[in-house]
Amino acid sequence: MSPLNLLLLALALVAVPRARGACPTSAELKNADGTRVCAKLYDKSDPYYENCCGGAELAVEPGADLPYLPSNWSNTASSLVVGQRCELTVWSIRGKKGKTRKFSTGAYPRLEEYRLGIFGTWSNSISALYCRCY
Ligand SMILES: *[C@@H]1O[C@H](CO)[C@@H](O)[C@H](O)[C@H]1NC(C)=O
Repeated sequence: MSPLNLLLLALALVAVPRARGACPTSAELKNADGTRVCAKLYDKSDPYYENCCGGAELAVEPGADLPYLPSNWSNTASSLVVGQRCELTVWSIRGKKGKTRKFSTGAYPRLEEYRLGIFGTWSNSISALYCRCY
């Protein structure tokens, strides 16, 4: 590896934790009473990572199986965070139809960075979900 590549790699490693912005980390993902949350969905993302995970939020309990999200959350989530040792599976069409994707533990501040088919992204495209922890 050239010195320039090593420098770029070092910069990338330093930059990653900051990329989570205002989203909580997986470890911070708990209810106010301390009980475990499997995932949280947020209706607002932003070009600036520090402003992501804003607006209304939907806390998803471990084991939650929602083939039909509440209607005002259908095609609405733009940021999400998945808790430690949890995994969130999402579908693009209500009733667990259409395309599907798994999000493992971590923060996903900008769902528009995750492609859905050729033209779409996962921002405003989650209509059903299943969340499990182990
Ligand atoms: C959907 O409605 C519920 C109940 O009124 C509210 O708490 C929640 O914030 C709403 N979701 C969005 C994305 O606005």
